[in-house]
Amino acid sequence: MTRERWTEVDDYLTDLLLPEDAALDQALAESHAAGLPAIAVSAPQGRLLHLLARMRGARRILEVGTLGGYSTIWLARALPPDGTLVTLEADAHHAQVARDNLARAGLSGVAEVVLGPAADTMASLPREAPFDLIFIDADKSGYPDYLRAAVELSRTGTVIVADNVVRNGAVSDTDNDDPAVQGVRRYLEMVAADPRLEATAIQTVGAKGYDGFALALVTT
Ligand code: SAH
Ligand code: DHB
Ligand code: MG
Repeated sequence: MTRERWTEVDDYLTDLLLPEDAALDQALAESHAAGLPAIAVSAPQGRLLHLLARMRGARRILEVGTLGGYSTIWLARALPPDGTLVTLEADAHHAQVARDNLARAGLSGVAEVVLGPAADTMASLPREAPFDLIFIDADKSGYPDYLRAAVELSRTGTVIVADNVVRNGAVSDTDNDDPAVQGVRRYLEMVAADPRLEATAIQTVGAKGYDGFALALVTT
């Protein structure tokens, strides 16, 4: 099985299950044109985030790692009319591209892009907390810090989703000293050790290769 095959299936599933969406397509095109890396979630993954937020009935969403705002659009569209989303981005160029993409998608009034390293900006968020769903997708070495802060910004019933927790299988290689892999391993260990969290992680293949999501529910 190859990545081409996984991509073909992602294309098939996208064509079959996901409506045509000019705003999302344009967000990706503008992100590409602006030189951003092509590391946004895939369309089926974006819709998974969207559906999780709807299933949770999320009214406040926090995203850590905005890039061009592609996953932000999927998540923000899951909100009810009075819902809000805060997304955190350290790179000023990425943040500006995301703000433009959110404006084009008609979501400027719903989604706020906060510029700065997430470890700093998360500390200023208790004003907007608790969040109902938190999506962690910034630098992987920061995941342990982001989990600690995310739990602080949660309530009973908050869903915490983390992207890229399998990284081509590297996660289970105890000898791997890549800080990204170490960050994800530490994240999962912290999730496992936190009595407030009930969690799982699921391996995925698709247009983005072999990776995975971790899902945690804040139970108390
Ligand atoms: N969620 C996006 C993809 C995010 S890519 C999507 O699926 O569409 C990861 C993003 O995290 C990049 O834009 C990167 O600039 C940002 N980032 C990296 N380190 C960060 C930090 N310390 N704080 C906040 N954002 C950071
Ligand atoms: C990378 C980051 C991501 O969030 C992702 O989904 C894929 C790749 C990266 O930094 O390479
Ligand atoms: Mg990611």
